[in-house]
Amino acid sequence: MHLQLKPFRNAARSRCSRAAPARGPAAGLLFFPVAVAAASSSSPSSSLSSRPSSSLVQLRRWSRRKTIGCVASSSSARSETPSSSSGASAAAASTSAMAEARVTAVATIKVTAGGFLNSLRPSRAIDDIKDLIGRSLYLELVSSHLDAKTGREKPTLRSYAHKVADNDADVVTYEADFDLPPGFGEVGAVLVTNEHHTEMFLEDVSLYTNSDSGSDSDSDSGSDDARAAPLLAIRCRSWVEPKSSDAAGDGKRVFFANKPYLPGQTPPGLRSYRSKDLEEKRGDGRGERKPSDRIYDYATYNDLGDPDSDAAKARPVLGGSAQFPYPRRCRTGRPMSAKDPSTETRSGDNYVPRDEAFSEVKNLQFSVTTLRSVLHAAVPAVQSTLIDPNLAFPSFFVIDKLFEDGVELPKADQLGFLRSVVPRLLQLLRDGPGDQVLLFDRPANVQKDKFAWLRDEEFARETLAGMNPYAIELVREFPLKSKLDPAVYGQAESAITAEVLERQMGRVMTVAEAVSQKRLFMLDYHDLFLPYVHRIRAQAHTTMYGSRTIFFLCNDGTLRLLAIELTRPASPTQPQWRRVFTSSTDTTESWLWRMAKSHVRAHDSGHHELISHWLRTHCAVEPYIIAANRQLSEMHPVYQLLHPHFRYTMRINALARSALINAGGIIELSFSPQRYAIELSSVAYDKLWRFDTEALPADLVRRGMAVEDPAAEHGLRLTIPDYPFANDGLLVWDAIKGWVTAYVARFYPDASTLAGDAELQAFWTDVRTVGHGDKKDAPGWPALDSPDSLAHALTTIIWVASAHHAAVNFGQYDFAGYFPNRPSIARTNMPVEEPVDATALAAFLDNPDQALRECFPSQVQATLVMAVLDLLSTHSPDEEYLGGMETAPWNDDATVQDAYGKFNARLKEIEGIMDERNKDRRLKNRCGAGILPYQLMKPFSQPGVTGMGIPNSTSI
Ligand SMILES: [Fe+2]
Repeated sequence: MHLQLKPFRNAARSRCSRAAPARGPAAGLLFFPVAVAAASSSSPSSSLSSRPSSSLVQLRRWSRRKTIGCVASSSSARSETPSSSSGASAAAASTSAMAEARVTAVATIKVTAGGFLNSLRPSRAIDDIKDLIGRSLYLELVSSHLDAKTGREKPTLRSYAHKVADNDADVVTYEADFDLPPGFGEVGAVLVTNEHHTEMFLEDVSLYTNSDSGSDSDSDSGSDDARAAPLLAIRCRSWVEPKSSDAAGDGKRVFFANKPYLPGQTPPGLRSYRSKDLEEKRGDGRGERKPSDRIYDYATYNDLGDPDSDAAKARPVLGGSAQFPYPRRCRTGRPMSAKDPSTETRSGDNYVPRDEAFSEVKNLQFSVTTLRSVLHAAVPAVQSTLIDPNLAFPSFFVIDKLFEDGVELPKADQLGFLRSVVPRLLQLLRDGPGDQVLLFDRPANVQKDKFAWLRDEEFARETLAGMNPYAIELVREFPLKSKLDPAVYGQAESAITAEVLERQMGRVMTVAEAVSQKRLFMLDYHDLFLPYVHRIRAQAHTTMYGSRTIFFLCNDGTLRLLAIELTRPASPTQPQWRRVFTSSTDTTESWLWRMAKSHVRAHDSGHHELISHWLRTHCAVEPYIIAANRQLSEMHPVYQLLHPHFRYTMRINALARSALINAGGIIELSFSPQRYAIELSSVAYDKLWRFDTEALPADLVRRGMAVEDPAAEHGLRLTIPDYPFANDGLLVWDAIKGWVTAYVARFYPDASTLAGDAELQAFWTDVRTVGHGDKKDAPGWPALDSPDSLAHALTTIIWVASAHHAAVNFGQYDFAGYFPNRPSIARTNMPVEEPVDATALAAFLDNPDQALRECFPSQVQATLVMAVLDLLSTHSPDEEYLGGMETAPWNDDATVQDAYGKFNARLKEIEGIMDERNKDRRLKNRCGAGILPYQLMKPFSQPGVTGMGIPNSTSI
């Protein structure tokens, strides 16, 4: 036997919030520190190591020695055990000290594992779990070693586990005793068979020595910590389906000891289990997936349309074609549509592998219930209240009232639960009938400066420190030119002339000088949107232009907004129309300027939500998750590194396909491109997405926002020194890079180790040729041929899933909750667009305020988006943050622990640096009167809408 004694804290971690058995027949009453915070105890991946011990739980006295016979185990194990006196094998020799040891396996099942309905019926769910008595849980211990005589795998040691404790509200404990024969070798895995008729959430399986050799004196002293620690703790944290639902297999799940192994280093006794588990997770690519499956497979986005319900809801398949390249999603295997055989039917909940589901804590906060509550119950209620879904707000006063009086909802019993699931969103102002109100918190930017949205300075500042800092780029040449075909779209050269810009710059320099000094920047939404303008305009209640917006970098480090060009391309019936707008002291021009800014903001909202947010994080990450689960064993160190960064992403993406990005979903209802919204993200994937430029440094260089400079901090010199997102983001990027580099070095000492890692190479091939297969021949894919290239690629993946997502996700309510600052849609054309609509122009001149409100989102669109942004900006109570201590599957490896500790310490240090920057009055893009400090890259946060905090994963 070669079982390692775990440190004390591991024992505590592995048995979160449960009473654990003390060891030894005369054990005293022992005390373990156990966190009792609700979030900690409820979250499947919570850990005690990072949380203060807030209570002590008295351990159950080991009062009864159970000698549950190892069913086939004792006999089979004994029969195959070499004589302890033979000393024939090294394995036997190494374990001779533990000859004939008896061990107890303790399996911890979370009672909350009652399934989806559990939170609604806790008592029933507990009863269900309590039913798991007797022959319902079957455990087998797997030796890491082969039989020395036969060279084959040793038979497993087998035993039914019996329920022994349920005196904790959260968990039920099962135990099974095993006679571990000499020469069995290190236990490398446990096989679990769930013989019950329902699934169970297996938290962990721990092995304890169960010999009577412990001294009574130790026990009597009560200092039994060492004996209370498990010999081996296997983190499972997985749903185990009943054997009966595994018709094709044997119903056995393997859980490996937490120690990571590269494929070639796999203990020989575990090799077949390693490959079999991967085969099961890959599936056979056939049939419709059941909710209980744990199969990871690929499909195109062919389920966004719903032609069976409505021909108008037909949508193109995204992915798998040259016209619409796209990342892959998780395959569900649903039947194809009868009306459109290329489209998958939409029925029920979108499948995700079972362990990708939300925890119950997460479910309570966001879940299907919450999303559906707000999206399907509240919104129609608002719609019915407002009668006309296209109605604009009657005044700015009424917009302000959203944050004071809210939107009254009709009395409806089913709305009552909204108050509990989204307490900060809804308040019951009065008790009388018909007085339920959808009340919005005042967004942070409005709290700081109610009129900030009107100021050009704020418009410019938010390109550097707002919720979409990924769009601004350097003007490298002038005049600006479109790459589109002028024969189709009209004149390629921009109408923004040097004269216009020099006038707006106060003639402090020429445009040529400004370009050479890297003083001009732009938001370029011209070539992306222009080909879609006429198609978008053919829909009701929306419009579109191509746009270019130019900024000047002032000496104080801020950007000045110079000019906006709006373009309508040529069509068979109309010539190209375009016009340059600037700020002006002329009243009419000034109102036109406000309207032009609203159009650009709507373009930026679409770019943000469809590209910076959805495409580049949620959508692009899903193939990494699928590939990792198909090709990397859960024993693989790279799997263990990446796994925390995949938490909840597949589930939230499935919800997005269900209600947000689907035909008729929230995005189509609320954003300018309407039915072409998601299609546009495919265009952006085609033209813009490359793996290498998803790394922050490369992204900044690509946009001209930085140049490489080995002498500069981070190896980059920023073009705009006070670029809050870049400055803070690079701190985080470097911290991730440092951690990942140390981790990679621990497992890959040289390039040959990488080349010989078949699982890793298969993972990368899967990512490149299948998950992102439509871009497999694009430039930018690194070969994983050195520790450095692997560390860089993994850093990129982790950056995208964590910090990139946080930068564009958790500021959504702060910046766009007050929608005049970031309208999701611009609904009306500029009143001066030619041919001029005389009625519209007259209405504009008569009441420009109303014209602007009619261009804004309708009341229904605005409240809908506000509700969604509030939800999406919220941190769950069980959030796991970058560098947090909740996840550490490699916690027995001192080298890795040390590196992770440094990572955690660095992130805390970074938080302080960002706080100091936000107080530095010289940094005018993040500090000043009424300016929201830039906190989106601060690593940690409290639950709720905080405008800070970097979760490990793209989790909402
Ligand atoms: Fe998100």
